[in-house]
Amino acid sequence: MNDSTKKIIFTVLVGLPTLLVVWIFSLYFLGCGTNNSCSGISLPDLTPIPTLLPATLPAPKVGLDAVAAAPKCQIAALNLIGAWDSAGHAEKDTFSFTDVKGRNCTGTFKDDVQKLFLTPNLWYDGAPACITCHYADIAKSTKNMDLSSYAGILAGSNRLNGAAKGNDILGGGKWTDALLRKMLYAPNGKTEIGRPPMPLGRSATVPAYGPLISAGVPTGGEAAAAPSPTTPAETPTPEATAVAAADIARPSNPGGPGEAVKMAGDALVGEQIFVARCTPCHGEQGKNGIPNPGSDDGSVPALNPIDPTLISADPLIFSTNLDLFIEHGSTPAGPSPVIRMPAWGDQKLLSSQEIAHVIAYLISLNK
Ligand code: HEC
Ligand code: HEC
Repeated sequence: MNDSTKKIIFTVLVGLPTLLVVWIFSLYFLGCGTNNSCSGISLPDLTPIPTLLPATLPAPKVGLDAVAAAPKCQIAALNLIGAWDSAGHAEKDTFSFTDVKGRNCTGTFKDDVQKLFLTPNLWYDGAPACITCHYADIAKSTKNMDLSSYAGILAGSNRLNGAAKGNDILGGGKWTDALLRKMLYAPNGKTEIGRPPMPLGRSATVPAYGPLISAGVPTGGEAAAAPSPTTPAETPTPEATAVAAADIARPSNPGGPGEAVKMAGDALVGEQIFVARCTPCHGEQGKNGIPNPGSDDGSVPALNPIDPTLISADPLIFSTNLDLFIEHGSTPAGPSPVIRMPAWGDQKLLSSQEIAHVIAYLISLNK
């Protein structure tokens, strides 16, 4: 080894540790000072890390997608409620069912059945939750029925008050007799008892037994290889129809006026249809829309008085403005509106003549 090599090695061996010691001491004195009152090294201000998702991301999926998070059994909504009812409709005990793949499965009310009553967008895209109309305040709730809790479901409909028993909707455990089944089983969008299928505003495209959902667990513990849940076809959210007179309120769904605008309507008949079909969301005589969380307005719009931009002295224009909403339905503006206006015409929930009657009634309210 020659001298210069030795010098280099010496410099590295002695120089580097010395530098390190000097650097640590300088840090220590900068942070703690010479009097050794170490109050912590003050770090420079950090750029805050954003914790909020950018507002441009699509709203998180709810309903079916949320329900379908874990690998589970697959069964039509109605068959699940039926299996629970037939097994004695217990609150906590498990009940058995066979899923669409023929697997033996078990579920519970709390984990599997209850969400069918509580979750919006579950029965179809845009569906209100059952509890939007059938909630705990018995005096105000539709059909004086509370579907928000186990006790409420067991207590049934048409109750005088929160403590009273009402009409059994579970058929005494005989599912084929259950009013709940009769209101939910809807081949081609119609119940067999001639009453509107639930959830009210339900589209004719919803399968007779309701949507296929993920529920329960396969018995025997064999972890199901995550079955891909059958999600209903994504309905495209069309751009708001271009409006010539930009200020007139228009539905988010596209389409022109239906046959109804050319028909004569009877306001008295329209009133009856309105009471059955429209008051659950728009209130008695259209005076008070129910709350609509996730919408910019916060509630379903009142129709009496109605949005003044819809009113016209020309009866044909007035009816057309109303008809576009009634025929095609509409999703209110807002991040994740729970309630949407059903497409009464497009989904054949009302005939053109019935729509003409309702329009006549709405016009009579807003003369
Ligand atoms: C938008 C409001 C609304 C929603 C949402 C709704 N319902 Fe109803 N429900 C009604 C109306 C209105 C009636 C009365 C219909 C009739 O008399 O024919 C009714 C009646 C019923 C009845 C019959 C009660 C009786 O004694 O006559 C049952 C059962 C029922 N609904 C269950 C449900 C279930 C289950 C859901 C959710 C899957 C649901 N409803 C969602 C408005 C609603
Ligand atoms: C499931 C709840 C629901 C039911 C039932 C319902 N609507 Fe609506 N309706 C809405 C919502 C939500 C809007 C707001 C839509 C928007 O802002 O795009 C709306 C809007 C309207 C509008 C436009 C009002 C405005 O200010 O823009 C009319 C007209 C209307 N509904 C008529 C009816 C009639 C008639 C019926 C009965 C045949 C009915 N609705 C039943 C939820 C409902």
